[in-house]
Amino acid sequence: MNFFEVVEKRHSIRAFATEPVEPEKLQQILETANRAPSAGNLQGYEIFVVKDAETRAALAKAALEQGFIAEAPVVLVFCTNAARSAQKYGRRGETLYTIQDATIACTFAMLAVTAVNLSSVWVGAFNTEAVQEIIGAPSGIVPVAILPIGYAAVEPRLTPRRELADIVHTI
Ligand SMILES: Cc1cc2nc3c(=O)[nH]c(=O)nc-3n(C[C@H](O)[C@H](O)[C@H](O)COP(=O)(O)O)c2cc1C
Repeated sequence: MNFFEVVEKRHSIRAFATEPVEPEKLQQILETANRAPSAGNLQGYEIFVVKDAETRAALAKAALEQGFIAEAPVVLVFCTNAARSAQKYGRRGETLYTIQDATIACTFAMLAVTAVNLSSVWVGAFNTEAVQEIIGAPSGIVPVAILPIGYAAVEPRLTPRRELADIVHTI
């Protein structure tokens, strides 16, 4: 699959098979996240890899009972690390760049998931403090995106997009 085929193929999946994620695929996904650009190359984020079933169930509960998080054999939690970005960029680093760094890394991971024929869905609806506690993240390491990963148990639901002319403002 070339890049454009990966983008075309990626759809959110909210039901996962019990089949495990191969360790080499997970490694490839994490290495792809690590290739993401970041402000000043400071990589102001942390990635928590959750495989334990009980912890996945707790994450699902903390994410407004989105049960598919517990189904996915691997769940990545992307967190900001504001202190890293603040070193060089002060307030802009801790309020903006750290979030951008974490979410670009999550985007890279999400596309890599598709490229290795796995599926995922970006989850943003969760109780931040609860997730922070579940993964044991120290204060200052704040969860911003959860990415459950696994083999799809359903066909994707295709979603429409805004017209480009509505989004793009050429000036
Ligand atoms: C910031 C963000 C937060 C999201 N949060 C959730 C979520 O909590 N639960 C969920 O099922 N999907 C969530 N999604 C997935 C979107 O619903 C999905 O990407 C969108 O409907 C387009 O569908 P597609 O991903 O299949 O193209 C989120 C996506 C983004 C980018």
